[in-house]
Amino acid sequence: MMETMADIEGLLDWYIMAGVQETCGDTPGISVSAEPIITNSIQTGPQKLFQSSANTVKAMPMAANISAAGNTAAVKNAKDICGKATSLQELKEIMLQFEGCGLKNTAASTVFGDGNPHARLMLIGEAPGADEDRQGKPFVGRCGKLLDKMFAAMQIKREDCYITNVLPWRPPGNRTPTDDEKAVCLPFLIRQIELIAPDFILLLGGIALNSVMNTPDSISRTRGKWMTYPVSAEKSAQVLATYHPSYLLRSPAQKANSWADLLRLKAKMRENTNDGN
Ligand code: URA
Repeated sequence: MMETMADIEGLLDWYIMAGVQETCGDTPGISVSAEPIITNSIQTGPQKLFQSSANTVKAMPMAANISAAGNTAAVKNAKDICGKATSLQELKEIMLQFEGCGLKNTAASTVFGDGNPHARLMLIGEAPGADEDRQGKPFVGRCGKLLDKMFAAMQIKREDCYITNVLPWRPPGNRTPTDDEKAVCLPFLIRQIELIAPDFILLLGGIALNSVMNTPDSISRTRGKWMTYPVSAEKSAQVLATYHPSYLLRSPAQKANSWADLLRLKAKMRENTNDGN
């Protein structure tokens, strides 16, 4: 039985963690919207229609059912519009307008990258979690706190880095993003990399590794090995992958390996400059 405010807050937190986004009443399925909302500017295949008692219709793009052709068109559209952004602010505005990924419908926020636009070091994670979705910023929850501690120990300031994710929208219940979802979000990430043009990229976890480096290799085999990423015709970034902080929270024994990776990164950054930052 729910006795106290803390019980109720606990239950609500549990629902939020589980990805519950809406409440409904005892009578069946009505989604009310004053205006018809056509959420996709591009053709993404099947749309699920909800008819309300007020005769309004809400079109819900169903990311999981997007046809291959629909997703190819969505990816092409994303590449085209991202290529037009000449600054991070423009790219953010394009992302806020973008309706080609169904995850946007269940997320509370669009979580764009955060930090120094001239950063030498760019960190790339997977997707916002519940805290990031609520606050609209990457890595502000438990994983972010661990990341902050790791960086403080390395004497690298978070505000000197740029932090972003492969996906700007939280997958419901933190499920693994689908290939279609990753593919349609990737142009936004690639454009962020181009606009920041970092010297170093740290990939946090397998999804960031597989998406940015376009490799099926596992994080456990690839972590700690230097790779390069062509940021532009003139410049390549040095890339290192390491375990995602959420994995380290679950498997603390791996922290030693991650620490070794971060020391490698710090040493290489120092080789390329005098202050290591
Ligand atoms: N995990 C991620 O990959 N990114 C975040 O922003 C938070 C948690």
